Amino acid sequence: MFRRRYNKKKERIFNMAEEIKKEAPANFKVTIDNITIEVAPGTSILNAARKIGGDVTPPAMCYYSKLQGSGGKCRTCLVEVAAGSTADPRPMPKLVASCRTNVMDGMIVKNITSERVQDARAGVVEFLLLNHPLDCPICDQAGECHLQDLGYEHGKEGTRYEFKRRTFEKEDIGPYIQLHMTRCILCYRCTYVADQLTDNRVHGILDRGDHAEISTYISKAIDNDFSGNMIDVCPVGALTDKTFRFKNRVWFTKPVNAHRDCDKCCGKVTLWQRGDEVLRVTARKDEWGEVQSYDGKPGWICNTCRFDKKHVNDWMIEGPTKINRHSVISQGHYVGLHKPKETMPEVMGGRAPKLLMDIHDVSDVNSVDISALPGPATSKTFEKTNSNGKQ
Ligand code: SF4
Ligand code: FES
Repeated sequence: MFRRRYNKKKERIFNMAEEIKKEAPANFKVTIDNITIEVAPGTSILNAARKIGGDVTPPAMCYYSKLQGSGGKCRTCLVEVAAGSTADPRPMPKLVASCRTNVMDGMIVKNITSERVQDARAGVVEFLLLNHPLDCPICDQAGECHLQDLGYEHGKEGTRYEFKRRTFEKEDIGPYIQLHMTRCILCYRCTYVADQLTDNRVHGILDRGDHAEISTYISKAIDNDFSGNMIDVCPVGALTDKTFRFKNRVWFTKPVNAHRDCDKCCGKVTLWQRGDEVLRVTARKDEWGEVQSYDGKPGWICNTCRFDKKHVNDWMIEGPTKINRHSVISQGHYVGLHKPKETMPEVMGGRAPKLLMDIHDVSDVNSVDISALPGPATSKTFEKTNSNGKQ
């Protein structure tokens, strides 16, 4: 008796679900910058825009599709929702974070077609750069830094900020990773990698507000087998690969796809070569700068592949990595570069800088006469150079 009642109830619920399924559209129609596409319910505006691709896609500094819970921290992906849905076509009063807002059927979104969005994005870039040092000439991330790209696309030449920037001592976090907290934008991606890829997270964001900083608990080293992936997800140069630091500029290297049989990870990597020398090993990245997926699984790589296999004979070479033709890596120079205004007061509203550092005073690179070298410089060229410039 009880069983029969239970089965009837189950049948009723099943029929109701079928009815709902029939009524709801299988796909939601969403229009982004006048381009309409259909996406599955539950898709975020950002992922819908990624399906269209190109300029329509908002930039994302903290969202990372392969890391659960990421997004909602940086505000670079703000968009305007001009119509909420077919059922309720009212516009949303405020700009929304596209990585954290799901599409509705009939939603109309503006990204590059909205002046409000462009203005807000310029404000977000200015905000991200408040405390960020403009040390691209000596930063290892230059040429593949998302903040650098964002600054070029949306930044302003001048700054309104007059106060002392936050500075931190360089922190050594383990044998492979160097932390430059001054460059961190607190996107939380590295903490998600530690949470979701390693067994034991030993670092995190300590303190709050303008005191917030990434640090290890009581200076514990991050030496987990998958910790190197933090370097790949960091959108700026806050976490850098100690085995590659200062060895070369990324646009002077040749990226090559390669693989090896690895019992810990997928073993599919990009080798960054200079001649036959393997200067760096990274996971392969997709067009959004995220690690590529294979059979639906993210292709994170282990520390053995990343740090210990630095010889071409360790790898089966597949061929050159496809690099976006607009990237400085494929161009060897910045595209459409405008020479910056050299006189600082021009960009500082008439004010003169209080302090200037001449980079040539502090860089060892200048102690080598590059023009006298028979071929291109490699990391070996600078190996024997000490801080006094003596070879
Ligand atoms: S260190 Fe890099 S990945 Fe970690 S929070 Fe800072 S910017 Fe993000
Ligand atoms: S990418 Fe959406 S808030 Fe950072």
